[in-house]
Amino acid sequence: MSLPIPRVPPLRGGPVLRWGVLAPGEIANDFVTTLHANTDQRVVAVGSRSADRASAFAVTHGIPRSGSYRAVVEDPDVDVVYIASPHSEHRTLALLAIAAGKHVLVEKPIALTAEEAVEIAAAARGAGVFAMEALWSRYLPQADVIAQLLEQRAIGDVTLVTAVLGWRWPYDPASRGYDPALGGGAMLDAGVYSLWFSQFVLGEPARIQASGNLAPTGVDSDTVVAIESASGALAAVTTSIVADTPVLAAVYGTEGSIQFDSAFVMPGSFRLVTAAGTQTFTDDSGLVGRAGLAWQAVALAQYVSDGLTESPVHSLDDSVALMRTIDEVRSQVGAA
Ligand SMILES: NC(=O)c1ccc[n+]([C@@H]2O[C@H](COP(=O)([O-])OP(=O)(O)OC[C@H]3O[C@@H](n4cnc5c(N)ncnc54)[C@H](OP(=O)(O)O)[C@@H]3O)[C@@H](O)[C@H]2O)c1
Repeated sequence: MSLPIPRVPPLRGGPVLRWGVLAPGEIANDFVTTLHANTDQRVVAVGSRSADRASAFAVTHGIPRSGSYRAVVEDPDVDVVYIASPHSEHRTLALLAIAAGKHVLVEKPIALTAEEAVEIAAAARGAGVFAMEALWSRYLPQADVIAQLLEQRAIGDVTLVTAVLGWRWPYDPASRGYDPALGGGAMLDAGVYSLWFSQFVLGEPARIQASGNLAPTGVDSDTVVAIESASGALAAVTTSIVADTPVLAAVYGTEGSIQFDSAFVMPGSFRLVTAAGTQTFTDDSGLVGRAGLAWQAVALAQYVSDGLTESPVHSLDDSVALMRTIDEVRSQVGAA
């Protein structure tokens, strides 16, 4: 059996949206850079809490208009708003954009809690706009190949998922990584990816057992989660903001395994290992690292063009379910 062909829209030549960007920080910079370099999508407006920061970002990226958050969401020439603020502001900014009738792409995690995620989903559904969590790893070609392999039962019954992801944030109590008011903590920032991978394969957990350590600010600094799914399959998920761990994931089944050889959240490669031998999928798109953020944008543009209001591969209910798991893990470890 040869590996499936990824079912992803082309980076160029598909439907084009006019994007507005809110909160021009680190990830907004990477997102706009790859959008303009690697796709036909165009950013036409940027909004910041500071007029000077918005204007400087606009100059850097050749964006025609800059202003406040409100000016961007009310701009009639903006089709979709990308929300790139710290997690603590996702709910407020998503609701602002949705109320203005705009489609939204909200950075991960979609909100601070499941309750907030439900609120965003309800507002988007009520307004009839498209809304999606920017879980960009799900839109990479490799994720679709894995989805097809699982659909085809290429490794038989899944028995175990492992997902490890940690990156070290230097301790600064006022930073987004450690300040509870900004949604600090490992689970919300890094752990969302490893939990997503587990839920992508196994669905929402039936049982969760978490252990974690807390930083001096009270946020979780590193956490280990044991998950049992309804089928009885297990997942072992770890995350940290104090240790640079490998960023690796694997899926084991009764007839084989899928094992990443590179960071599972970025364009890379994985091996399908079965009794028939080993086959390797390698992303050959030329998009490296965060340049892969482009895939979620072209997917979103295609979904909107197809008349959808949610991602068919990571719906708002999936985002809410992910937040429910994060809520439970944070509660078990006593995170602020
Ligand atoms: N997909 C990925 O690979 C990836 C990578 C990194 C981060 N992220 C996600 O992207 C989001 C932003 O992360 P980031 O690292 O880009 O953050 P960042 O650079 O620290 O901040 C982003 C921007 O948010 C705005 N902002 C609004 N309210 C704020 C507040 N109360 N405090 C601080 N800044 C505030 C600021 O811009 P203005 O004040 O100018 O409006 C700031 O520059 C997070 O939710 C994170 O999970 C995703």
